[in-house]
Order: sequence, then structure tokens, then C-alpha cells
Amino acid sequence: MTDYLAATRESWTAVAEAYAEESRSALDFKPFGRAMLRVFAELVSASPAGPVADLGCGPGNTTEYLHRRGLEVFGVDLAPGMVAVARRTYPHLSFEVGTMTALDLPPGELGGVLAWYSIVNIPLPDLPAVFDEFHRVLAPGGHVLLGFQVRTELRHVTHGFGSEISLDFHRHPPDRVVELLGDAGFAVLAQLIREPDEQEHSRQAHILARKR
Ligand SMILES: C[S@@+](CC[C@H](N)C(=O)[O-])C[C@H]1O[C@@H](n2cnc3c(N)ncnc32)[C@H](O)[C@@H]1O
Repeated sequence: MTDYLAATRESWTAVAEAYAEESRSALDFKPFGRAMLRVFAELVSASPAGPVADLGCGPGNTTEYLHRRGLEVFGVDLAPGMVAVARRTYPHLSFEVGTMTALDLPPGELGGVLAWYSIVNIPLPDLPAVFDEFHRVLAPGGHVLLGFQVRTELRHVTHGFGSEISLDFHRHPPDRVVELLGDAGFAVLAQLIREPDEQEHSRQAHILARKR
């Protein structure tokens, strides 16, 4: 299932510095995203089940956002270049290289999983295995929050942030994602679908669920 991971890793590493620069204050302009992250933080804090993993943390901005909301949180990213930027920018937090398709974490350890615009590089047929992995590492009652673009078609990108890359951004219909979360053993608590803002080309989905 994981042939695409090498290209994803190399591409995000190639653009890590430029992406970090461009996305540093992105959350400041995303009030709906911040609202869902705050609800997630509140729910996780209310059930002291364990730390939160920010999976596909990129340069660590969302990891830091959750840390500031009082969560014990660490970041994991496939791209060593992203992890290097995150470690340099937020030296008080912990970041490791890893893949959400096979996490180096024991079962039931986490109180929360955040996948903020990081399942976008996972093909839809591979999402069930990724959600099984989220389920495995979460404690009962643990929460998962997803953020992703509602694409109508696959987008293959060969040039971005000033570099030659090879990245697929997959189509994830929110209804199907909700179904797959249910199949993996999650109860979906909230779905927020919003219209694109001036910087965006597609609707945005935020889905919050709890391990049953
Ligand atoms: C669009 S960026 C989002 C980064 C960050 N979450 C944010 O909101 O700024 C996607 C990130 O997901 C990471 N990623 C993609 N596939 C991954 C995988 N299988 N496991 C872990 N990280 C992955 C990429 O390396 C990249 O840093």
C-alpha cells in the first residue's frame, strides 16, 4: 500500500523551508479551523487518556497551537526536512520522523490524534488501514481530528514552492471519510464543511471523532 510514500517524503522535504515560511501564520486566517482545534483540545483535556500525536505535523505550527492550548503534544512527519524545520522552530516540543501508515507507538497510548491536512497525500483505498492505525494507538475514548480539502478530483503536482516535486493530493469525499471512520470503530461527533476563502480553491472539511 505504501509505494507512494517515498515520493511524498522526498517532495515535502524539498519544499519544507518554503512551506514553513508560507504557512507560519496560516492558522491566524482560519477561524473555523482554530475553532475545531480548540474543541478538540477541550475534549482531549477533559479525558486524561494520554498525549496527542500531530501526525503529518509539517513545520509544527499546529503542534505548537495545541501545546499553547495546554495539551501534551508531539509531532510526527514522514518528511525528515519537515521534522528538521519543526525541531528548529519549536525546540521545546518533540518531533519524530514516521509514517501514519505504520506508527512506532504502542497500542492505546494516545488521548488524541490530529491529522491536519496530512491525509491529503494518502490514497482513498489506503485510508481504512490508516484509520485502523489511529484506532490502535488511541486509548478508548480518545479523539481524532481530521482537516482536509474537499477535492473533486486527484491533483498531481510537479512544481511547487519553487521546487520540482511529485506529489498526489487525493480526493476524499467527506461522507466516505465519515463512513470509513465508523468502520474503523470511531463515533463521529462533528463535521464542519466550509466554503473556500480567498486563498483556497476547494471546500474544507474538519471531522472530529471519538474511539468507541
Ligand atoms: C499539507 S502538509 C500539512 C502540514 C501541517 N499539518 C500543517 O497543517 O501545516 C502535509 C504534511 O503531511 C506529511 N505527510 C504526508 N503523508 C504522511 C504520512 N504517511 N505520514 C506522516 N506524515 C505524512 C507531509 O510530509 C507534510 O509535512
